[in-house]
Amino acid sequence: MNDSPPAPRRSLGQLGSLRTLWPFVRRHRGLLAAWLAALAISSAATLSLPTAVRQMIDHGFSGGGQINQAFALLFVVAVVLAIATAARFFFVSLLGEKVVSDLRRQLYVHLIGLDAGFHDRNRSGELVSRLSADSELLRSVIGSTISVALRSGVTVIGSLSMLFVTSPRLAAFALIGIPLAVLPIVLGARRLQKASRASQDRIADANTLAAETLGAVRTVQAHARETYEGGRFGAALDVSVRTARRRIGTQAWVTAAAIVLVFGAIVLVLWSGAHDVIDGRMTPGTLGQFVLYALIGGGSVGALAEVWNELQRAAGGMGRISELLQEQPGVTAPAQPLPLPVPLSGEIRFDNVVFHYPQHPGLPALDGFDLHVRPGETVALVGPSGAGKSTVLSMLLRFHDPQAGAVSVDGIDVRTVDPARLREQIALVPQQPALFAASAADNIRYGRLQASDAELEAAARAAEADDFIR
Ligand SMILES: Nc1ncnc2c1ncn2[C@@H]1O[C@H](COP(=O)(O)OP(=O)(O)OP(=O)(O)O)[C@@H](O)[C@H]1O
Ligand SMILES: [Mg+2]
Repeated sequence: MNDSPPAPRRSLGQLGSLRTLWPFVRRHRGLLAAWLAALAISSAATLSLPTAVRQMIDHGFSGGGQINQAFALLFVVAVVLAIATAARFFFVSLLGEKVVSDLRRQLYVHLIGLDAGFHDRNRSGELVSRLSADSELLRSVIGSTISVALRSGVTVIGSLSMLFVTSPRLAAFALIGIPLAVLPIVLGARRLQKASRASQDRIADANTLAAETLGAVRTVQAHARETYEGGRFGAALDVSVRTARRRIGTQAWVTAAAIVLVFGAIVLVLWSGAHDVIDGRMTPGTLGQFVLYALIGGGSVGALAEVWNELQRAAGGMGRISELLQEQPGVTAPAQPLPLPVPLSGEIRFDNVVFHYPQHPGLPALDGFDLHVRPGETVALVGPSGAGKSTVLSMLLRFHDPQAGAVSVDGIDVRTVDPARLREQIALVPQQPALFAASAADNIRYGRLQASDAELEAAARAAEADDFIR
């Protein structure tokens, strides 16, 4: 986790945000190298197939001994192709899994460390969606899309070169068709990226809604709002499908246009080649070889068109993930944190504290608040709902920094110490307690992970929770 992704440069092209993936990929150099090696071998095997076929057509059908040799060669090439393809698939898929898991881990650790203000602004459902849906998108991108893109790119270049080797005249014809095919792909790409981001955003909206209502399922049921919530979720899904429909539609047209143009060019070239064979300017085997290269190259251009669009989609997802990764916590430890006495004697002081939540700039939750709690003293804050009692505790834990005034413990300003060290020395029972999906013991231990079983029981007994836990 040492490499942090480079700062985002929004002005980079649409695919620019995919660059931020590189530090994650670089960590798995071995897999990357193995994948590229397998890719090179499988591409070479694919590109050597048509020459084997020409041998077969031109010589195989005439001589007795040669036919065995030609077919044996063809089979050997096929076996090499099979093994290299399997290896390529294995290495790149594994690479995708590892990169996405690293990315997820880093994003999660980053999110969990961001300050309370950030989490007030961002709904957890949406963050979970980034963590799952967007990462999922990237998994498919690394595991298949980039793989297909690179493979198709290599194949296009390779087959194009071989077309020229086979028949320069026919290849020149084909060369006119390819740029024609690339044009609509490039034109469609820009629209597609926008549509893709919109579509992912709508999915996040639906996820947020579901996370909220599932989190408060009792409230929903208490008001008998199941049908109402079902309708709301359905409506959110409908919007996401409508948004997706635009993206899918564009993608479909781009793919269709590319295929028509590429294969249209191939048919034209073939027609001219057929005349060459009839007039004796070319052997049937050479035309066969040419056709195969053209088919392989054309197919790869089609595949490129398809994955180009996928790449756009992934760039949208990675863009959102890097935005989150760039998010800096508003509350941080100072460069040289002062040490806190362990244990604290427990003196708490609020001096003329002014604080308003970022969402309500004009409405301070605490305004000139003073408080002095001596060590060992027990203090209860009493006041109407919204008076700011919980806010006082948030300030003490340094979830937020005051706009004016200071909070100190044992005479040390909380802004001069590491928040983690400070919070370790404070035990908080929140107004809305959270139970983690773990055993009762794990939940009790959450405050001190290394607590012994005896301490655990003592805590349970002290909370009078001993009876119902057992
Ligand atoms: N996370 C938040 N984001 C924005 N405003 C908040 C947030 N938490 C509290 N507030 C606002 O700050 C003010 C003080 O809220 P606080 O939660 O501290 O009150 P409280 O005294 O604990 O109330 P209660 O008795 O209901 O728990 C209220 O106006 C509330 O709306
Ligand atoms: Mg409260």
